[in-house]
Amino acid sequence: MTPPSQPRTAPDAGRERDEIVAYYTERYREDLRLDRRPQARLERARTLQLLGELLPPPGASVLDVGGGTGAYARELVAAGYRVRVVDLVPAHVEQVRGGDPPIEAEVGDARALRFGDGEYDAALLLGPLYHLGERADRVAALREAVRVTRPGGRVAAAVISRFAGPLDLAATDRFDARVLAEARTLLTDGRNDPASGFTHAYFHRPEEILGECADAGLTGIALHGLEGPLWTAAEAAAGGPAADAVYAAALELARLYSTEPSLVAASGHLLATGLAP
Ligand SMILES: C[S@@+](CC[C@H](N)C(=O)[O-])C[C@H]1O[C@@H](n2cnc3c(N)ncnc32)[C@H](O)[C@@H]1O
Repeated sequence: MTPPSQPRTAPDAGRERDEIVAYYTERYREDLRLDRRPQARLERARTLQLLGELLPPPGASVLDVGGGTGAYARELVAAGYRVRVVDLVPAHVEQVRGGDPPIEAEVGDARALRFGDGEYDAALLLGPLYHLGERADRVAALREAVRVTRPGGRVAAAVISRFAGPLDLAATDRFDARVLAEARTLLTDGRNDPASGFTHAYFHRPEEILGECADAGLTGIALHGLEGPLWTAAEAAAGGPAADAVYAAALELARLYSTEPSLVAASGHLLATGLAP
């Protein structure tokens, strides 16, 4: 673990890409992520509900940047949207192309999209931002999402809350002195310690993602807490007699408190949305 006195720095762009590709290709099954745990099921359920409310009607074109193995792309295609996935990890792109149904997908970097200005009705950025350690890179990715979206079209971008890791570990009985020290360090630098098992990553406070969205030119910005304030209770109850009841309550409260400013950062993930100018 990095002591608080030594500020952690992000790796350079090439190493950053290699680390992400290696993580998702060799160490992590992204295709299983959203079905695994109460946190992920809440994240998926609320993301789909919000996309249903925020996207233009089916038939619209959606660019899913950092679309992973296509979990949301498949739902959107099934609902009648025209979707293309861009992702940094070739193995993810292959899974999207080879899935059921096959979806158009290509390898690309959120910071430099090959598409024309206003080519899509909406753009999703549900993954790249927490993998980009530098603010300038995150704003560049948001600017690209804004650029390829038609004026007035929707952009939705997800980040991980600054507090998610320690809360998760505490709720699932993995809290110890190391986690407490890491929670202290995270308060000031927001950077994930790769010794945690995840890649280098950046974890946001609400005001940071709001500022990044504004700097990228989005208008009408709103911020949602995806899993709501009760997700850690759902994690703690998993496998026990109250699991279903607590999960159901957590989902209801996630919906009710979705944009409540004093609670959003208690969610594991934050979803920022806005319109291309
Ligand atoms: C945790 S997954 C999320 C996948 C999916 N969007 C979801 O929300 O379930 C993060 C994804 O972002 C992709 N990613 C990370 N940095 C990226 C970048 N700079 N450009 C494009 N994709 C990137 C990763 O390859 C990975 O597929």
